[in-house]
Amino acid sequence: MEFRLPRQEINQKLIDLGNKKLKQNKIRVPRVPKKTLKELLAILEEISKNGLPKYLVIKKLKKKLGYGIFLHPKAKPILKGEPIAPYSGEVFIFPQNAEDTTDYAFALISDLHLTKQEQLHWDPNSRYHPRRLYSIDLDAEKKGNFTRFINHSDRPNVEAMFLSIPANSLGLAPAPFELIYVAKKTIRPGEQLLVSYEPEEKNYWGALNVKPFPMTPKTFRLNSSLKLVSYVLP
Ligand SMILES: C[S@@+](CC[C@H](N)C(=O)[O-])C[C@H]1O[C@@H](n2cnc3c(N)ncnc32)[C@H](O)[C@@H]1O
Repeated sequence: MEFRLPRQEINQKLIDLGNKKLKQNKIRVPRVPKKTLKELLAILEEISKNGLPKYLVIKKLKKKLGYGIFLHPKAKPILKGEPIAPYSGEVFIFPQNAEDTTDYAFALISDLHLTKQEQLHWDPNSRYHPRRLYSIDLDAEKKGNFTRFINHSDRPNVEAMFLSIPANSLGLAPAPFELIYVAKKTIRPGEQLLVSYEPEEKNYWGALNVKPFPMTPKTFRLNSSLKLVSYVLP
């Protein structure tokens, strides 16, 4: 697996801008629980070393669906609330609704108004407009980890949570905000990991002009020989 970026790549100026917006809007970002930090650290180490944790499998699906991520048929279930991994990628700031975002981009913080000075810094080629809205986006097109291969479902078993990493003694760098994939319900061996793209990206499918294929975690499954079994043939 060539995608081995454990966590988001973000510069301090964007962290400061994001923090300012969260503070202005009195948004408190929930912390990753202490118990989960250890599990998260183990996952991050596996991503750096192997790309894909050993209990997961990446498989090519049918037609235009591309790849998907499955829980290994011999792995133990992933329980509700257990971390999957941070959705990692490069963090940029864009004028909101700009059409140049990729299929792998999600908004971390949207509806940002920038001061004249901030617009000059982040968007020097546009004329200053006080009402222009910006979005801090996380894009895994060029850099990311296996979470970029997790497909979409309206009935997902994974959810994207906007969380902070508190100061800790594990050597995990604290972060005031990060998008972390967590099991929304028990994920059973052989099932596909699926998340809903649309809470994060309000108009993901509309912007692509695509109707998503209606998958549930059981639509495609891996059997004990790691072969893909499809219960609902498209
Ligand atoms: C974040 S990527 C997911 C990984 C992708 N399958 C791959 O191989 O790179 C998002 C893209 O996967 C495809 N995709 C994911 N879920 C889908 C679904 N339910 N129906 C149709 N296409 C889907 C779409 O092309 C979408 O833009």
